[in-house]
Amino acid sequence: MWQARRIIHNGQDMPFADARLHPLSLAVAYGIAVFEGLRAYRNPADGSFSVFRLEDHLARLQQGMKVMRFDAPPTTDVLRAAVLEVVRLNAPDDDAYIRVQAQIEGLGTMATTGPVGWIAAALPRERSAKFATGLAAGVSSWTRLPDNSMPPRIKASANYHAGRLATLQAKADGYDSALLLTARGKLSEAAAACVFLVRDGVLVTPDRASDILESVTRDTVLVLAAEAGLAVEQRAVDRTELYVAEEVFVCGTGQELVAVTSVDRLPVGDGDPGPVTRRLQAAYEAVVRGTTGAHVTWRTPVS
Ligand SMILES: Cc1ncc(COP(=O)(O)O)c(C=O)c1O
Repeated sequence: MWQARRIIHNGQDMPFADARLHPLSLAVAYGIAVFEGLRAYRNPADGSFSVFRLEDHLARLQQGMKVMRFDAPPTTDVLRAAVLEVVRLNAPDDDAYIRVQAQIEGLGTMATTGPVGWIAAALPRERSAKFATGLAAGVSSWTRLPDNSMPPRIKASANYHAGRLATLQAKADGYDSALLLTARGKLSEAAAACVFLVRDGVLVTPDRASDILESVTRDTVLVLAAEAGLAVEQRAVDRTELYVAEEVFVCGTGQELVAVTSVDRLPVGDGDPGPVTRRLQAAYEAVVRGTTGAHVTWRTPVS
């Protein structure tokens, strides 16, 4: 597998290992940072790379920096150019996971709002080992962040403690991954992915008031499902609906789209990835990789 060689830090291209921040910078001291995880996919026919839904990720990053009240945040034009450049600089020979992050690099107090620095990095990342067979998930006793405590709809770095603790608990309990409820006891999402169910043939996902990250992949799946003629509902979802659903899957840029084949050790459906999940997984794969001509505007070529 290829290796990350270069990183862009505050506009400067440097060896990946040379990027530096002070340990007392507010990014480290209080986790005052927001980021995006994107993927650049390789088209198998011609070997070209394109970044999936680059504009949507950059728009969410701007929202994140606004919610965090960052001073003089980097512009979308600057970040777009850096994302494309960092892929070129690393010359991957396979799919790349891209992280764009903005952070407060200075020292100060919790209320300090700058100076804001940023990075763009491209990393190798293997597909989930459970991509074909599905995940065993457990509903966590850790809950998702409530919106009046931490902002779940943006990708703030400090948001990730609940997901991390839930994942560690899930692994200790013998599961592959965790599903988190809201503080109000409704289904929210997985630790770093959104969740869908199939109930009575209808595709169901927690709505945007369920303390979810406003996920780009969730939106992609909603579009692909509508194009496939599936009925879709976005609504509050009960925990026990997971136990009686015909199918469950999680989706996100990092996870891509993976079936959940058991929840709390109860099989989902017959315990294998179901037909709706497989169909959407194939549609997702085609649209991210560009083996379909559909949704060309979702793929920004890395020239
Ligand atoms: C907490 C959380 N939820 C959901 C997702 C899925 O979001 P997206 O589809 O935008 O990658 C992620 C992405 O990594 C995430 O970190």
